[in-house]
Amino acid sequence: QQSEYQEVLTFAISLAQQGGEVIRQAFDGQGLALNARVKADNPSDLVTAVDEYVETLVFGKIKERFPTHCLIGEETASGQPWKLTTDPTWIVDPVDGTTNFAQGFPFVAISIAFAVDRELVVGVVYNPILDELYSACQGHGAWLNQTRRLPLPSGVPKPLPPLSQCLFGFEHGSDRTHSVLSSRLGSLARLLEKTENGGAQVRGMRCVGSGALDMCLVARGSLDLYWEIGSHLWDIAAGTVIVREAGGMVVNGQGAFANPQAGIPKEPVDELAFDLMGRKYLAIRAAGSDPSADPTLGRTSMRQLASD
Ligand code: IPD
Repeated sequence: QQSEYQEVLTFAISLAQQGGEVIRQAFDGQGLALNARVKADNPSDLVTAVDEYVETLVFGKIKERFPTHCLIGEETASGQPWKLTTDPTWIVDPVDGTTNFAQGFPFVAISIAFAVDRELVVGVVYNPILDELYSACQGHGAWLNQTRRLPLPSGVPKPLPPLSQCLFGFEHGSDRTHSVLSSRLGSLARLLEKTENGGAQVRGMRCVGSGALDMCLVARGSLDLYWEIGSHLWDIAAGTVIVREAGGMVVNGQGAFANPQAGIPKEPVDELAFDLMGRKYLAIRAAGSDPSADPTLGRTSMRQLASD
């Protein structure tokens, strides 16, 4: 059955491929110069000329094809007030993993999502360096390179193993404030630390430097879950459709499903966890926007959920 969003999905894939080609050439030193610089509002966060060029390119093509659609993009929205309305809206992160891009670490992606009535319906995440394209359209599954259904057979066994056997993805984000970091790293340390029975709460942790790709790794079945505090809508919008269509789940800091109706358009989405096969592994953000307010909350939830 053809999806009503098939045209949008095909177009989003072609945008990701065109933007991806610019990224790949620049990564290989053959195209645009990166001209990486730190962002004015956060010196731990990088932006490059390629981020800006690709966002302009993609927005220009969307405006040509769908002149009435709304646009939200990392480079134009960062630091500005923005709002996800009920109108058809494209949500673009032109280069997710900008630090990786600037450092030559091959986990870099362009992320393009489409929402209608504040519902995310199409998501495409393309890593042009490794030539891996993840795509999904609501109700039609998630795919790798348009041919391999996600999760892949090599992914985690079904149902999910207990937390102690899980591979846990995380990103430390770009807020390097001492209090935020110590709380965040404290949570990670507790998950890695030996427990009374000698094992750790999680089997291992991975950080690839791109939230969009972390989500695709969950959809693929390579990571059991991914947790981050402080993601923005453009980091996770496309990945959300891909995770859900692969049978996973996306939750926000309140434990609610992180979809537009449940408040995903609010930025930042403070904390997310993804569950591949329907069991509830939640990493719950500490109350309020200050993650140091209750550093034990995530651990407690993990514990409770692990013993379900
Ligand atoms: C960032 C990356 C990073 C994550 C940050 C994101 P950007 O996106 O996904 O891994 O920790 O939260 O903002 O800035 O490279 O597009």
